[in-house]
Amino acid sequence: MKNRVFSGAQPSGKLTLGNYLGALRNWVKLQENYECIYCVVDMHAITVWQDPKELAAQTRQAAAAYIASGVDPEKSILFNQSQVSGHAELAWIFNCIARLGWLNRMTQFKDKAGKNRENASTGLYVYPNLMAADILLYQATHVPVGEDQKQHLELTRDIAQKFNHDFGVDLFPITEPLILGEGARVMSLRDGTKKMSKSDPSEYSRINLNDDSDTIAQKIRKAKTDAELIPGKADLLEGRAEAQNLIGIYAALSEVSRDTVCTEFEGKGFGDFKKALTELAVAKLAPITEEMARIEQDHAYIDGILRSGAEKADAIAQPILKEVKKAVGFLS
Ligand code: TRP
Repeated sequence: MKNRVFSGAQPSGKLTLGNYLGALRNWVKLQENYECIYCVVDMHAITVWQDPKELAAQTRQAAAAYIASGVDPEKSILFNQSQVSGHAELAWIFNCIARLGWLNRMTQFKDKAGKNRENASTGLYVYPNLMAADILLYQATHVPVGEDQKQHLELTRDIAQKFNHDFGVDLFPITEPLILGEGARVMSLRDGTKKMSKSDPSEYSRINLNDDSDTIAQKIRKAKTDAELIPGKADLLEGRAEAQNLIGIYAALSEVSRDTVCTEFEGKGFGDFKKALTELAVAKLAPITEEMARIEQDHAYIDGILRSGAEKADAIAQPILKEVKKAVGFLS
């Protein structure tokens, strides 16, 4: 099987600096060495309530962010999940492969459903089966994943193995995770122990990909830190979650190690450091922000890219889905 990457992100809310450094930037790099399929997973988004108008706008915004970050629709396939019906078809079959016991172990469901579990949608519960379908519909061999999606990828591997075993076929690859480089994990600007998230109620916890320069400056100025100075080595930041996070963001944006950043700012306080971080963040993000704003307005352009991406994705999926149906015993 050919090396093929699949990845997706939900169009639920604004994309953040965390999405850019943790995922998008890596997606762009992967285009050099893999055949890449990138998906805006609108079907995953509706596992919790989405206002229909906002969902459409956010789907376009996510696509614009991918393109503005450097995902090249000529090189890679870019589409929204609901336009390729194979995702839903394969997910149903996987609903019948995955065991209740497997899904009961998923920590993300427990987090997302919260205390009111009885009121969670059934879609939220089988969310990981749909994710397995996303990946295996294209026989993807590699998936770039962050820490929070590792358990879902494990489940994908279990589903692939059980399907192959139960039906005596060798249809699905056992997909490998691609672990992302340093600085992949960007934390909240208000609490260095929590992931930077588009769903955090505080706007000041995150930098959005479409924040303007003034907003970025203001958020960095207000970011939580401590009164200590910057040490000469990154190890010495241990126990200072917020300091670690800001140094990590600087390192990731400038693509150097945390140690290099510490050496550069050794003995300085966070007042000075934040000024430098603001300049760097604005310089790196402004071109993306501008490009994103320009693309986002052009609905015809984005919709055209997504539609043609969906056609290309469907062309890969159809023969695989046909094999799956044959293996299961569905007449066609
Ligand atoms: N569950 C992923 C997230 O919330 C999004 C996703 C859906 C995904 N399908 C995928 C990621 C397939 C990788 C591969 O981040």
